[in-house]
Amino acid sequence: MKLCTICILLMCFVFPVASEILSIIAGSSLVAGLGAGLGYFGWQKCFFDCCSEFKPVYVIEQNLTTLFAEQLYGQHIAVPAIKNAIINHLKTKEPRKALTLALHGITGTGKNYVASMIARSMFTKGMRSRNVHVINGNRHFYDEKEIHDFKNGLIHWIQGNLTSCSHSLFIFDEVDKLPSQVIDAIKPFIDHNIKITNADPRHSIFMFLSNTGSEVISQHALKYVQQGKARESISFIEMQEIVEASAYNQGEGGLKNSEIIGKHLIDYFIPFLPLTRTHVLLCIRDYAKQEGIYLTPEQEEKIAEGLTYFPRTSGSHAGVFSSSGCKHVANRVNLEKFQF
Ligand SMILES: Nc1ncnc2c1ncn2[C@@H]1O[C@H](COP(=O)(O)OP(=O)(O)O)[C@@H](O)[C@H]1O
Ligand SMILES: *[C@@H]1O[C@H](CO)[C@@H](O)[C@H](O)[C@H]1NC(C)=O
Ligand SMILES: *[C@@H]1O[C@H](CO)[C@@H](O)[C@H](O)[C@H]1NC(C)=O
Ligand SMILES: [Mg+2]
Repeated sequence: MKLCTICILLMCFVFPVASEILSIIAGSSLVAGLGAGLGYFGWQKCFFDCCSEFKPVYVIEQNLTTLFAEQLYGQHIAVPAIKNAIINHLKTKEPRKALTLALHGITGTGKNYVASMIARSMFTKGMRSRNVHVINGNRHFYDEKEIHDFKNGLIHWIQGNLTSCSHSLFIFDEVDKLPSQVIDAIKPFIDHNIKITNADPRHSIFMFLSNTGSEVISQHALKYVQQGKARESISFIEMQEIVEASAYNQGEGGLKNSEIIGKHLIDYFIPFLPLTRTHVLLCIRDYAKQEGIYLTPEQEEKIAEGLTYFPRTSGSHAGVFSSSGCKHVANRVNLEKFQF
């Protein structure tokens, strides 16, 4: 707030005054040229639009590429799909609508992790940026009135947030647990060419994270493995259809039967594949390294072994996938540390 006030003061007084003096010295045409050269109007919009934290698109692209390549395992479909969607959206001068991404997959496969990588790439303060907003669906509503109030509150603050920064990132976590009425309240913000007082939502990004569809995603991945095909040969297109159908038909609330899907307002349905033991081992090593914990290869194996895997049934492909991805890795590594 203080910073913004200073910016406004600077722009309203200092710049014009400086221009005045300069005009007297050098003639107004030169100053006009100088002003245009500095991108004065873009600059001014930037102050009002809170984009001081928003990085240049080429840096965002570099950061996203590096984070995905170095820290995210086993998501060969999600990585290029998300990166291309975001970079194309940010490079488009006049997008027709906000970018909407639905991330689906079993727990611990990296949905929140990816959301935080996007936040870190887009804004200098990452998840702590005032332009990043997380709405958690995992809250309890006692009655209809409470849902109604929550919905109205949400509309107001999305609008408020968009007024102060058009490049906002909204993350709806566990969206399958939010009532459909709440989800449909978001519709005006993600529709085509919409005009809302003071708020232009078209530059913003909305992400919807859920476990919906994990069953079909897992079954599909399992089918590949059982047919002796690589998990990495599953294509985005075949998965996209499966995931979209299940997002619409499965579970309670959330995106189920929501207008958002009915009216095709989700731009991409992104599947998160179940992780294998190999990926879990990589997560174990990363976490240990990050915490400065030394683990022997035997200890790493032991921790990986302690997690649950599916399918449970015997056969050569029993237990190929981790039931909770890399979710419990941090806890297990910490436990191992204290067992000396
Ligand atoms: N694909 C992955 N690659 C690397 N680490 C991962 C991956 N998936 C999960 N993790 C680790 O597990 C933690 C929990 O994952 P999270 O993103 O919260 O899962 P969810 O898909 O349930 O949102 C992450 O913070 C990260 O440390
Ligand atoms: C983003 O990229 C810039 C420039 O390449 C680099 O200095 C910075 O550390 C990167 N940030 C992250 C979060 O990767
Ligand atoms: C913006 O979003 C935050 C949550 O991230 C909320 O608490 C705040 O009230 C919103 N701001 C406005 C102006 O609505
Ligand atoms: Mg999650």
